[in-house]
Amino acid sequence: MTQSLTIARPDDWHLHLRDGAMLKAVLPETARHFARAIIMPNLVPPVVTGAQAAAYKDRIMAALPAGMDFAPLMTLYLTEDSDPDDIAAAHASGLIKAVKLYPAGATTNSASGVSNFKNVRAALEKMAEIGLPLCVHGEVTDHDIDIFDREAVFIDRVLDPIRKATPGLRVVMEHITTKDGVAYVQDNATDLGATITTHHLIINRNHILVGGIKPHYYCLPVAKREEHRLALRAAATSGDARFFLGTDSAPHVDDLKENACGCAGCFTATNTMALLAHVFEEENALENLEKFASRNGPNFYGLPVNDAKLTLTKGAEATVFPEKIECSDGPVTVFDPGFDVFWTVADQ
Ligand code: NCD
Ligand code: ZN
Repeated sequence: MTQSLTIARPDDWHLHLRDGAMLKAVLPETARHFARAIIMPNLVPPVVTGAQAAAYKDRIMAALPAGMDFAPLMTLYLTEDSDPDDIAAAHASGLIKAVKLYPAGATTNSASGVSNFKNVRAALEKMAEIGLPLCVHGEVTDHDIDIFDREAVFIDRVLDPIRKATPGLRVVMEHITTKDGVAYVQDNATDLGATITTHHLIINRNHILVGGIKPHYYCLPVAKREEHRLALRAAATSGDARFFLGTDSAPHVDDLKENACGCAGCFTATNTMALLAHVFEEENALENLEKFASRNGPNFYGLPVNDAKLTLTKGAEATVFPEKIECSDGPVTVFDPGFDVFWTVADQ
């Protein structure tokens, strides 16, 4: 018997679309299922100014295939030289929906990020004043902090002090990977939310390392112990309004992943919705999938829930997802959950 689930069309609150040939290759993978996405600004060079964000938005719209309905929600990359007035103008015009904070050196293309948080005080205060959310890559970069502890240490040393010093600042902890991240969000009021990726609901650190290194499971923040994955699953499937989907789908060509110094990022845009249906069903929480993927995010950002719908069906045969997406720069491997999935997104 075919099972079917119809939800409001989902949005992706953390997405890497890149630029040029990669943008053209991956944009349809997201636009097929998602109405909107928060677009990460970590291009090379990064999207720092309102003018750069406007130009990037034009390139995204130009790459969108005719007939596809998708709205990119732009962000600015916070640097120590960011101009608070430029940020405010980009927000007032409706162009940007958030500003992204990368600690310098934390992840792919984060060299222009923040080292001295005193130098972004004026920008953060302006954002609190105008109600513009800050999306945070929550990892410290200190070489003496173990990579598996970097999120928990960031909460204590950086995030909590920033929030205390900036009352009213709305913050999204991006791609949380620990029970500490879950607890920090649960202990706080509604000005704090968190995105959770699809892959962090599926893999723990063993999946990356046991039986050989699996470069396509390597992303940042890196997947943690099983107890953390279980905490993320409980949070995502709970229906709690503070947790919502941000896939962090981050395409890299295979040559750069399957490499002696392989870069971080899992590409999940293609099969995220089917994988989430699988996970939510396993947790007996299919009724909360719509909250996680379609309702909690717009509510946090003060945007309407999409009128359009998305239908998922579950059949008797395992769904066959493409192994790779072709890009003229080279193939991009689609995240493989490592188990059969019987859910699929019905044709629109
Ligand atoms: C992202 C990328 O490739 O841009 N990589 C990742 O592992 N998530 C950067 C980021 O969001 O940290
Ligand atoms: Zn990301």
